[in-house]
Amino acid sequence: MNQPISTESIYNAQATNWLRSEKILLSDFTARPRVLEALGKIKDQDILDFGCGEGYVSRMLIEAGVKSIFGVDSSAEMIAQAQSMAKELKLSNATYTVGNAVSFNQFPQTRFDKAIAVFLFNYLTIEEMTQVMSKVRSLLVAGGTFVFTVPHPCLPFMREESPPFYFEHGEKSYLDGINKTFEGKIWRRDGVPVSVRCVHKTFAHYFEALAKAGFNSLPEVKELAVTDEHLAFDPEFFGPLKGYPLHVLFKVKVND
Ligand SMILES: C[S@@+](CC[C@H](N)C(=O)[O-])C[C@H]1O[C@@H](n2cnc3c(N)ncnc32)[C@H](O)[C@@H]1O
Repeated sequence: MNQPISTESIYNAQATNWLRSEKILLSDFTARPRVLEALGKIKDQDILDFGCGEGYVSRMLIEAGVKSIFGVDSSAEMIAQAQSMAKELKLSNATYTVGNAVSFNQFPQTRFDKAIAVFLFNYLTIEEMTQVMSKVRSLLVAGGTFVFTVPHPCLPFMREESPPFYFEHGEKSYLDGINKTFEGKIWRRDGVPVSVRCVHKTFAHYFEALAKAGFNSLPEVKELAVTDEHLAFDPEFFGPLKGYPLHVLFKVKVND
């Protein structure tokens, strides 16, 4: 039987297609600006970026005035791109390290003000996600915030397999696809697709995992979709997604 391609191989092979200095991927429009918005005040704060990729989101945060970024990603190529961009842009407050978020423990400090995981959990099983959430919980200061985004759990079952974003659920249904990997693609506005995957979870799994990890206040939850502004800006690109829930953003706070 063929072994499924590893997530590291997927990202090592397409790191240059992810590298960007302006919005180009669908989710650069529909999700990442909302992460920044959800984080609130970040000036002079220390931020942990789990699954940081080539550093696009962390560069947005640096531009917004954070004190430091510590990024971890399991793809050596994505980290190499992040490091080379940081060098080119002379970002002395950004540190990027290769590591698996599930087992990584070499943090430069014991506490961070805020943490993000932008489309990381769709690569992890429910058990792995719970472990990472527990680690994030233990690394946040009192009053700290954790913001993460994931593909909307209903999207694979609502949308046909066509651009600019889809996941293949095969024969699996919403409830019997749990912890199964759905392969997918998301497009850039210039027509280039990148491969993504989603280890399927239901909405309930995110709430249960947060509670098990020790986040004991209700998270804020936003179901993200294309907006009227997106549709007016590029109707051809965003039009096929009108009315579909694309991603979910969770924001949870550590009680003071
Ligand atoms: C969709 S990309 C998002 C990258 C970045 N957060 C962004 O928004 O541009 C997902 C990233 O998660 C990383 N990743 C997947 N599994 C991981 C794991 N177990 N530990 C650390 N990083 C992981 C991948 O290598 C990839 O760079």
